[in-house]
Amino acid sequence: MKFFIDTANLAQIKEAQDLGVLDGVTTNPSLMAKEGIKGDANILKHYVDICNIVTGDVSAEVISTDFEGMVREGEALAKLHPQIVVKVPMIKEGVKAIKYFTEKGIRTNCTLVFSAGQALLAAKAGATYVSPFIGRLDDVSTDGLTLIEDIRTIYDNFGYETQILAASVRHPMHIIECAKIGADVATCPLSAIIALLKHPLTDSGLAQFLKDAGK
Ligand code: G3P
Repeated sequence: MKFFIDTANLAQIKEAQDLGVLDGVTTNPSLMAKEGIKGDANILKHYVDICNIVTGDVSAEVISTDFEGMVREGEALAKLHPQIVVKVPMIKEGVKAIKYFTEKGIRTNCTLVFSAGQALLAAKAGATYVSPFIGRLDDVSTDGLTLIEDIRTIYDNFGYETQILAASVRHPMHIIECAKIGADVATCPLSAIIALLKHPLTDSGLAQFLKDAGK
């Protein structure tokens, strides 16, 4: 299972990369705004800075909602760096754009996916990744993990190669459950990755070992 970090914060990306378990990065316009990155030139430079920290795929999202605009933006993003994956929202124009990018050999991440039907469309259009937002489904009393299970079943039924990228991950149990179901990727806040490390018996066991080592 691949671990992506879901942030545009360079320090957190570096910390996850240094841990040695990072396979990629996802960003979105809200995460870029949170870091105060404004203006086209600064945004493009920030994507390149991220690519220079990590070795894996880096999702960069288009903000146009029409086909022509998505194509123009996506082609510019893809030219920035070979690690860039163009993130496209699950709307009608987005499906058309994903199909276009697929035919051009440009990799895509279909974002804002909240149903199995949307995930099926993304796979048919040839998306490299599909991003179901599990935390936001949980927020509205709908089990996000059930959606991951449904997409896994559908993709396995037909051999779709689109990778399931569980997004809007909020805590370590989301990561563990996604791993059990067979999501290909989880994109997580750094806090959720670090939380996987923690166990009180590890801490107390280590304290005892160190105490005994001194005897
Ligand atoms: O990967 C999508 C993510 O950025 C959304 O997360 O926590 O805003 O629902 P959240």
